[in-house]
Amino acid sequence: MTDDKAQSQQPMANSQNAFSGKRTLITGGLGFLGSNLARRLVELGAEVLLVDSLIPDYGGSLFNIAGIEDRVRVNIADVRDEHGMDYLVRSQDIIFNLAGQVSHLDSMRDPYTDLEINCRAQLSILEACRKHNPGVKIVYAGTRQIYGRPCYLPVDESHPLAPTDINGVNKLAGEWYHVVYNRVHGLRMVSLRMTNTYGPRMRVKDARQTFIGWWLRQIVEGQELQIFGDGRQVRDFNYVDDVVEALLLAAADPNADGQIYNMGSDESISLLDLAELLIEVNEVNGGGSYRIVPFPADRKRIDIGDFHGDYTKIRTQLGWRPTVPLREGLERTVAFYHRYREHYW
Ligand SMILES: NC(=O)c1ccc[n+]([C@@H]2O[C@H](COP(=O)([O-])OP(=O)(O)OC[C@H]3O[C@@H](n4cnc5c(N)ncnc54)[C@H](O)[C@@H]3O)[C@@H](O)[C@H]2O)c1
Repeated sequence: MTDDKAQSQQPMANSQNAFSGKRTLITGGLGFLGSNLARRLVELGAEVLLVDSLIPDYGGSLFNIAGIEDRVRVNIADVRDEHGMDYLVRSQDIIFNLAGQVSHLDSMRDPYTDLEINCRAQLSILEACRKHNPGVKIVYAGTRQIYGRPCYLPVDESHPLAPTDINGVNKLAGEWYHVVYNRVHGLRMVSLRMTNTYGPRMRVKDARQTFIGWWLRQIVEGQELQIFGDGRQVRDFNYVDDVVEALLLAAADPNADGQIYNMGSDESISLLDLAELLIEVNEVNGGGSYRIVPFPADRKRIDIGDFHGDYTKIRTQLGWRPTVPLREGLERTVAFYHRYREHYW
């Protein structure tokens, strides 16, 4: 299975050497980011172990690894299981720690599950590494959600941290456990604070995870998009291939050890303009329409307003920059879901 996607133009000069034959473990490896990363690691000649619980209603799916299933190992396991993690982290060179409960709304309705996965389980992983594999490099999937409502734009890494929801609080703790294990125990780690990431293999079943995933499904189904509020909220987006390259750069570069980096884009866009762009991108399949509706109260209470991340630090230190323009990324993604919708609906 292919997405007809072009290779990215990131500065991956040494990546072939950096990952060839390396033992890599991806927690959350059957999810959106994990499976796209797995595809790239396989191309680069890494040994890839995917650890995923496949909890129903989360983003994991075996179809996400269709075409590479013979080139990766899959272990259906839960990162909350300390004993399992003790065993799984052994002899890995790099751990991409991407497993997570990712719905902000769910974290408000069921805070304990979010706590267990995004917080407590992170300690299980780190303790397992401290005891059984202290030389490993860990790349943690952080989130821009931990900044909360921005005090200024674009948001850099020095911006105050004030999450607006339980998920943000637990992801912040999860990140800082990694930082503490670096500073106190010398574990090599790096955190990427990701902004809205989109692309093939993201969960589009409903609006619980990301609004962009839901919009992608609606546009493919020919349904009207709903924009909450006035549509002037600004967001930034990264195409998944660009985020995968950032994960690889962060893993390969020793200068990233102990660091936290924002992801970001040069193209911040209002939701109204995003809806119009999606409709244009879907023109060959009949376009689409949108309607502005009042903000649902449960979403409004945890909304962060405008967001635009400053990614200067990762650009200057690791040479990363986003290379896939929003229009092109949306075109690839819409084409993917037109083709494979039966596996994602
Ligand atoms: N996609 C984004 O826009 C975005 C933005 C910021 C941060 N992130 C972070 O990136 C990571 C990956 O997100 P994603 O978008 O790929 O989501 P996803 O839901 O597609 O992937 C997460 C994967 O983790 C697995 N998982 C969940 N709980 C688990 C557990 N207890 N044990 C083992 N596996 C478990 C799920 O089954 C799923 O396959 C998450 O940690 C998320 O917080 C993502």
